[in-house]
Amino acid sequence: MKDLKNYSLLANNTFGIDVRASRFVEYDSEEELRHFLTEDTGLHAPLLSIGGGSNLLFTADFPGVVLHSAIKGMEVVRETEEWVEIRVGAGEVWDDFVAFSVSNHWYGAENLSIIPGEVGASAVQNIGAYGTEVKDLIVEVETLCVADGTSRRFTNAECQYAYRKSIFKGELKGKYVVTYVTYRLSKLPVYRLDYGNIRDELQKEGCEVNLENLRRVIIRIREAKLPDPAVIGNAGSFFMNPIIPVSQFHELQKQYPEIPNYPMGEGGIKVPAGWMIERCGWKGRALGRAAVHDKQALVLINRGGATADEIVHLSQEVVKSVKEKFGVTICPEVNFI
Ligand code: EPU
Repeated sequence: MKDLKNYSLLANNTFGIDVRASRFVEYDSEEELRHFLTEDTGLHAPLLSIGGGSNLLFTADFPGVVLHSAIKGMEVVRETEEWVEIRVGAGEVWDDFVAFSVSNHWYGAENLSIIPGEVGASAVQNIGAYGTEVKDLIVEVETLCVADGTSRRFTNAECQYAYRKSIFKGELKGKYVVTYVTYRLSKLPVYRLDYGNIRDELQKEGCEVNLENLRRVIIRIREAKLPDPAVIGNAGSFFMNPIIPVSQFHELQKQYPEIPNYPMGEGGIKVPAGWMIERCGWKGRALGRAAVHDKQALVLINRGGATADEIVHLSQEVVKSVKEKFGVTICPEVNFI
């Protein structure tokens, strides 16, 4: 277990914001976490549980305890001829799990290749990309209750998953800490190739559709558009794609016939925020040391030494422009702390 005072969070947030936590506690097991939650005086301070820090924007020093899981392990707990269930520690790097799955020829996680972050956060955030969301794979989420350290398992349905949402970000925010996530993957080939240019990219390479090739193509597409947080500070998509009423979409489509869209059933129509931000002229533009990424307008970047205020200011200007031009309010996907 690590227990550090006045800790710099620079290495724990991919935006590269230099803020401090009064205390930083990293636990290696469920028992250590339970002990901290039930016995430690740190309990009286505000707690914040973080994963890889790839979806956070610290706007000030954190006057409490930042908790980080180092619970490791990937273990097959159930299997049939058709599927396998793997219980994974919350502190495993998400993409290590994807790589492990692909190397074992288990299907389902490959479209989520190289999403930054850790397994615990995958279940909180319902990470998604290229037509797959992690909720499609999750069987159950094991947690400890912050108030009394007791264990509680959540079935997939109990997690109340929706686009980039779960009960852990909503009603139960801050009340449970994820310790393990169990995913079910298929042993039989199932591919999701219909999102964007995935099928075309595979065909262009003239390569066979298999797990390794699909993972490689997804990694290539992501690397071409999304900046590597180790080089340029960012938190992936800064905004969520708004889901708007069908009637409003039809009005927009009259003016912009080429507007990309993803029908969401009765819920409305999802419109890419990146497309609207680009049409507002923001792609590649900077305000101080914060900027809109030049290859993907949904991503805000730290050009070096940006403060959270600069990033927040840029995000507010972007929101304002999109509202003025399209009449649509876009909301951050990134959590402001
Ligand atoms: N687009 C533009 N200009 C831009 C960006 C996008 O015109 O600058 C257009 C694209 O041409 C395309 C559409 O918008 O027609 C969608 O773009 P893209 O496929 O790049 O995906 P996105 O909607 O911008 C979402 C996720 C990403 C995920 C990709 C691929 C959200 C908030 N973001 O982005 O997730 O990788 O789809 O599935 O849903 C993340 O959440 O951090 C993230 C990177």
